[in-house]
Amino acid sequence: MRAKTPAEIEIMREGGKKLAQTLQKLAVKVQPDITPRELANIAEEEVKKAGLRPILKGYEGFPAVMCISINDAIVHGMPGKKPIKEGDVVNLDLTVGYKNLILDSAISVYAGKNPPADIKRLLEGTKRALEAGIRAIKGDGTRVGDISAAIQNTLDGYNLGVIRDLVGHAVGDKIHEEPSIPNYGVAGTGPVLPAGVTIAVEPMASLGDWHIDTANDDWTVIMRDGSIGAHFEHTVLVTEDGAEVLTAI
Ligand code: MF3
Ligand code: CO
Ligand code: CO
Repeated sequence: MRAKTPAEIEIMREGGKKLAQTLQKLAVKVQPDITPRELANIAEEEVKKAGLRPILKGYEGFPAVMCISINDAIVHGMPGKKPIKEGDVVNLDLTVGYKNLILDSAISVYAGKNPPADIKRLLEGTKRALEAGIRAIKGDGTRVGDISAAIQNTLDGYNLGVIRDLVGHAVGDKIHEEPSIPNYGVAGTGPVLPAGVTIAVEPMASLGDWHIDTANDDWTVIMRDGSIGAHFEHTVLVTEDGAEVLTAI
């Protein structure tokens, strides 16, 4: 974690906007019959067109520009060739470089028209948890636990399982920097965040129990009980007196 200079913040703003626009383009393409592989190929083209760097490709051996995780796969899914079907919950997680800095953002979308009530609750609750986590950032001196507690309270309110073994993180020079930002915790505790630092806030939740496993491909993180999961993520700047979402459209 490192406070960014005004020039670096401007770069992250610009890169974040490009990333958000790319994710939005992908989100509308999430429909029955398209394959995750096709989505990732589109992402790769769009990333290059936007002048972004596809830093995930080859990162620790990861084969694609983005993670696409479906249903009980919660994160780190490798984009495969099995077509998406009506009713799937699809997580699109895109990490890119812009100039010398890194941005990270994710959304979960429903493939189809009318999601059943429990899927609505999952998607709405996880999205609201991200918003609550960002709202809990009151600027210079915010404690990580403030963010964690706000996320946890929101997910609890929606009766969702809070995934405990996966966390948000500071981001900018590397994908994953200290400190971790857990999605549960106690306000007023944990590392202090100074103004100028950039963090990835990313609640992950499920309709069932919170325990996870790693799939046989050694990448995909799946819910142990097979329940459906969701994940929303923004890269956020801690300002003097609040927060600014950098991966906004
Ligand atoms: N985008 C993921 C995150 O939100 C990081 C993916 S890196 C991987 O932290 F190697 F784990 F895929
Ligand atoms: Co991410
Ligand atoms: Co992240």
